[in-house]
This record gives sequence, structure tokens and C-alpha cells, in this order.
Amino acid sequence: MADIDGIKNAKQFAEDVAFANTGNFHVKGANNLDWGMKDRLSRIFNPITGKTVMLAFDHGYFMGATAGLERLDLLIPRLAEHADCLMGTRGAIRTSVPANYNKSIALRVSSGSSILQDDLSRESMVVSIEEAIKMNASAIAVQTFIGAEGQKETIEELNRAVNLGSRYSIPTLGVVAVGKDMERTSRYFTLATRMLAEFGVQIVKTYYCDDFEKVAAACPVPLVVAGGKKIPEQDALTLAYKSIQGGAAGVDMGRNIFQSEKPEEMIQAVNKVVHHGFTDKEAYEFFLDLANEKISN
Ligand code: R5P
Repeated sequence: MADIDGIKNAKQFAEDVAFANTGNFHVKGANNLDWGMKDRLSRIFNPITGKTVMLAFDHGYFMGATAGLERLDLLIPRLAEHADCLMGTRGAIRTSVPANYNKSIALRVSSGSSILQDDLSRESMVVSIEEAIKMNASAIAVQTFIGAEGQKETIEELNRAVNLGSRYSIPTLGVVAVGKDMERTSRYFTLATRMLAEFGVQIVKTYYCDDFEKVAAACPVPLVVAGGKKIPEQDALTLAYKSIQGGAAGVDMGRNIFQSEKPEEMIQAVNKVVHHGFTDKEAYEFFLDLANEKISN
């Protein structure tokens, strides 16, 4: 058995020191990857800013038609131009996203549970790598439950996805799914994000937490931060701002965009934070201006 007694807490994160092995490539941890991986990562992460706005609308794979996502065919065309990457299931993308948008796709390939169950932590990779290739996916997304019942099987499935993705140079987006009894601390997220990176994913999706700088510094691949449940727009922009300031390479935001009463204005404000250096205050003012302009037109 591994010796886990007396583990020392990590503390030397050198948060102020930039990641070392960058070469001339703009995505953290990707300098040693091959051309195909780099090409796909460059479709997700803007080569000028190094960052990404991912629009997440994959919630239906375990929640069905949830608030804001009732009509993907009407929603996505309103938002897509302001996103760098669309994160969804094959069913959502094939049916409701025009194929001429030419946006990068983060294809959700894991599933296995639904909100009808207590334990959501049992997921496996259910979409084949051939499907990801056919859909020209720029990444495959796999949920991994750290500290939950399904931890072992989701870790195995994540590694299977990384193996398959590596075969065809398709990056894997590892999604940190928080076990229901876990506390959302920097200690937990440092563990979970680092585990996923060491399993070989090229991108990690996680949540914001206090001391996020340490989480980001300890993870050798880019972090994208999920929005989580709907909060007021101003607060969601602060979340995005703090995430970027803390070292995130972007956001992977869903409900705080599509459940806003002003989703188009909201995604544009998020884009300003991620790509244009707006503070949360500036972005909220921008959001209000856009919203008011629309009302007065
Ligand atoms: C959740 O099941 C999905 O992975 C979502 O894509 C993710 O949680 C981001 O969406 P939200 O910002 O709504 O949390």
C-alpha cells in the first residue's frame, strides 16, 4: 500500500513565475506536442491572446432540456460568434449547430448517469474516437470524479480517452467533477487538476476557488473555469475576471451565459474579460451599455 501517512502540504508554487517550457507555442504544456495537437489547440486557444471563451451547452446529457437550453437551434446561433469553442454533445451539435460556423468543438464523449439518480459519478467514454474525428472535434471532453464513488472508473475512462486522443492528435479536455462530499478548496482542486494533467490531458476544466493562483501554477496544462450555477451577471463577470487574473487560460461557461436574460450581451462581456483585459467592473458596464442600447433600439 502506498505510504500516505505524513504527506507534506505543497507550498512552493512560484505563482509569479511563468511556465517554463513554452518554446514559441502559446498553449501551456503543449510545446512538446505534435503538429496536429498544436493545430487543434490553436483553434481553441486564440494564438494572439492565448486564451479561450468556451460556451458550454452539454448539460442536456444528464439533465435533459434544462432552463436556457430548451431550443439549442435558436440559442446557439445567437451566441456562437462570440465564443472560441463550442462544448456540446454530438447530438446537440449535429442537430442544432450549423456546420459552416467553423468554430472549434469540444465534444462531450462521456456519460452514464442522469439527475434521476443520487450518484452522478459513474461515467464512461461512450462516444468513439471515430465520431470525434468525423465531427472534426478540436478536443474530446471526459468527466472525471475525484473523491467520489466512480473515481476509479472515470479515471480509467479518462486515460482511455487520452490514449485514443493521442493516437489521432485530438486533445482531451479533462473535466474535474467534484465528488459530492468534497469541499471546494484549493487543496482539493490542486489535487484534482494536477491528477488530470498527469494522466495526460491537454486541457483541464475546473472551478474557481480561493488561492486559485496556486492551483493554476501547479497544473502544467491550461485551466478553463466553469461558471457553475447561475449567479448575477456582475458576480459571474467577477468570477471570470478573478479566474483570468489567477492564471486561468479561459472560461468554459454555460448557465451564467445561457440562463442570463441577456445571453448575447453576457457572452460578449465575458469575451472582453478573457481576451481584452477588461476588469470585471468594466465588463459589467459594457454589459449594461449593450443591454440598454438594445432596449433603446
Ligand atoms: C456540466 O455538466 C458541464 O460539464 C458543463 O459544461 C460545465 O459545468 C460548465 O457549465 P456551467 O458554467 O453551467 O457550470
